[in-house]
Amino acid sequence: MPVQDPNDSRRSFLVGATALVMQAMTGCKASAPRHSMVPVHPSADSSLRLHAAEHRLLYGTAVAMHPLRTDAEYTRLIKEQCSILVPENCMKWAEIHPKPEQYNFEEADYLVAFAEKNHIKVRGHNLVWHKSLPVWLTSSISPEMARTMMTEHIQEVAGRYSNRMHSWDVVNEAIHLEDGRADGYRDSLWLKNIGPDYIEIAFQVARDADPAALLTYNEYGLDNESNEHEAKRQAVLQMLRRLKTRNIPIDALGLQAHLSTTHATYGEGLRRFLTSVRELGLQIFVTELDVNDEKMPADPGQRDLAVAKAVTDYLKVVLSERDVRAVLTWGISTRYSWLRTPQDPNPRGLPFDTQYQPTLFFNALRDSFDDRATQGLEPHSARTFVPLLPSTREKGGVE
Ligand code: XIL
Repeated sequence: MPVQDPNDSRRSFLVGATALVMQAMTGCKASAPRHSMVPVHPSADSSLRLHAAEHRLLYGTAVAMHPLRTDAEYTRLIKEQCSILVPENCMKWAEIHPKPEQYNFEEADYLVAFAEKNHIKVRGHNLVWHKSLPVWLTSSISPEMARTMMTEHIQEVAGRYSNRMHSWDVVNEAIHLEDGRADGYRDSLWLKNIGPDYIEIAFQVARDADPAALLTYNEYGLDNESNEHEAKRQAVLQMLRRLKTRNIPIDALGLQAHLSTTHATYGEGLRRFLTSVRELGLQIFVTELDVNDEKMPADPGQRDLAVAKAVTDYLKVVLSERDVRAVLTWGISTRYSWLRTPQDPNPRGLPFDTQYQPTLFFNALRDSFDDRATQGLEPHSARTFVPLLPSTREKGGVE
């Protein structure tokens, strides 16, 4: 399946360099270098979506709407590589519900139509979060009104796309140990005004609004082997157990997986956590994978190796868990990523760089999919997707 680039004369140099730098970085002898550490130029035939589908996974990305409408190369790449999409911002409260009586569905409608036209699934993100709230809401909310406001919002937004979504991030980032509560819940506007039951209410309302979507709790900071992440994993687990015990309709956990090159140790704590999540009967999605490499020297080669190592090490643990069904990166190219800042204009923490060239992140993802043990797993329905032809553009409308 992996496509080799016969013209790449840098191959042997890069392979040797890879092994040497890995050795320098890890302090131990690198395992046999893999030919696939050489960047490839992917096509529809060697796409991440096909490699993922071979191993019972969906692959996709968060989508920024402006480039989806205006940048043909960005759009082409998404069609070529992805079997699932999630809007980066356009379904968040501030964008989709900018005034009390006004919903703005234009961008979200465009994304969902684009995905359907191209046989790509969509995750909704998100219904209840402490961020991206419009001022009209934060300035007018009261304990009397909060439950109604949250309920109506979920009914309107999830209801509009009912039966068309793969899943919804119903509640996002509700655990925040720094707030000092015994249950670990974030002291958010929702908690302050509704109480801790807001989470249960949100899931129940979402199930009624869209019975077909997989309802997901989405969280960050659960990845590495630090005490901080372990404590957060325990708090999330406690919350998930509470929801399941009370028969709340929740189907999946979303691991945001905003990794960094500085704290990149993934192992037993994460593995145990995923097993416990599976034992609760929940599916698992990696929802926002990217690697922050801003602390590294500017050299792209050095960054690529550290980023690829973080992705490989992380996915080695995560993909060994059979109930992981999807991996989405938080952007497909660093051209439009939140990782790209004026101080750090050329980050390497996504599958394609600012010039749409594949990075070693791409190889790490593809190889991690390929390495997944699939014994005993039934084929994923994404396998039956019709492979996309590159660039079947039409004038006007949704591409
Ligand atoms: C981020 C977007 O990428 C930015 O464009 C926006 O300005 C802020 O939100 N966790 C989440 C995402 O669940 O919604 C966030 O997205 C990144 C962190």
